[in-house]
Amino acid sequence: MSEAPSQAYVVSMTNLHATAASLAADGKGILAADESIKTMSARLAKVGVEGTETNRRDYRELLLTTPGLSQWVAGIILCDETLRQLTADGTPFPQRAAALGVQAGIKVDTGTTTLPFSDGETVTQGLDGLAERLAEYRELGATFAKWRAVLQPGASDRAFWANAHALARYAALCQDAGIVPIVEPEVLMDGGHPIEACQATTAAMLSATFSELDRAGVDPAGVVLKPNMVIAGTAASSQSTPKDVARQTVAVLRDKVPAQVPSIAFLSGGQSNERACANLAEINRQASQVGVPWRLTFSFGRALVDDALRTWAGQPGQVAQAQQALAANCSRASAAAQGRDEGVV
Ligand code: 13P
Repeated sequence: MSEAPSQAYVVSMTNLHATAASLAADGKGILAADESIKTMSARLAKVGVEGTETNRRDYRELLLTTPGLSQWVAGIILCDETLRQLTADGTPFPQRAAALGVQAGIKVDTGTTTLPFSDGETVTQGLDGLAERLAEYRELGATFAKWRAVLQPGASDRAFWANAHALARYAALCQDAGIVPIVEPEVLMDGGHPIEACQATTAAMLSATFSELDRAGVDPAGVVLKPNMVIAGTAASSQSTPKDVARQTVAVLRDKVPAQVPSIAFLSGGQSNERACANLAEINRQASQVGVPWRLTFSFGRALVDDALRTWAGQPGQVAQAQQALAANCSRASAAAQGRDEGVV
């Protein structure tokens, strides 16, 4: 017979459930601003800005302090560097976020490495020392975390299980530390594959993921799932319409995702804001027709921030305009999370 959980355990699980639900409540979603130092520096370089610590800080502060952000965004995912930085007024980022009504999250994986005995597939790493890092992140103010597994369409069984196992170990460590894990198994959009290939790979990866989460003892009511939409590859001859994306995405989720999961927050995967929001709106419309147990929202990165980065391009005089661009994109994403496609105005 299993032992009854201690009161402390029950209380912390209740908090995890509330936090996981809150990240997709009231039509809000999650802003992914957690690019690694290398990726962020490369994105800054593309708009002519040097990839310094200060420039990365200024850009993240511009995003976080966008007027009205908390109307549309419940959480912001940061990387280790930003979580430890101070905004210009001397406030640590997580505290500034909390004061603005936005929860701070932390990306804790350390990227991908080649999976042995595979054809160039990868597994995500970062488990060593993770318990200690999570304890520190919690002290710093993070309420949730993120780990991204990356799968090619047509991925092998070996890649599914290696990545699902790592996701489950990560998620268990997070819940044990009182932090909600965002579980992100991403099937990439790159390539010329049809929507059916994305559907099959997404279904297999979600099966493996929830099987491993269960074996690791992870409570599904205390996670946020961050999947890709089911969609044809960017170079496919036949591109998916919002109706195709919604039909296939809702079908796969209904088949594979336990009803206890409170929140599903999609990544954008390189789609424009307009396209990602049109797809999310239609997903919500079709989901409400059939009735689903989870809230379906966004955890977009590029589909929210690209316009702001281009508009700012390191010029202090452009901050307000860049923030307006981010606000418009977040507002559309929030409408889409409620089944409304507001298009681009
Ligand atoms: P995109 O929405 O740009 O795909 O990024 C989301 C994310 O957090 C990927 O890990």
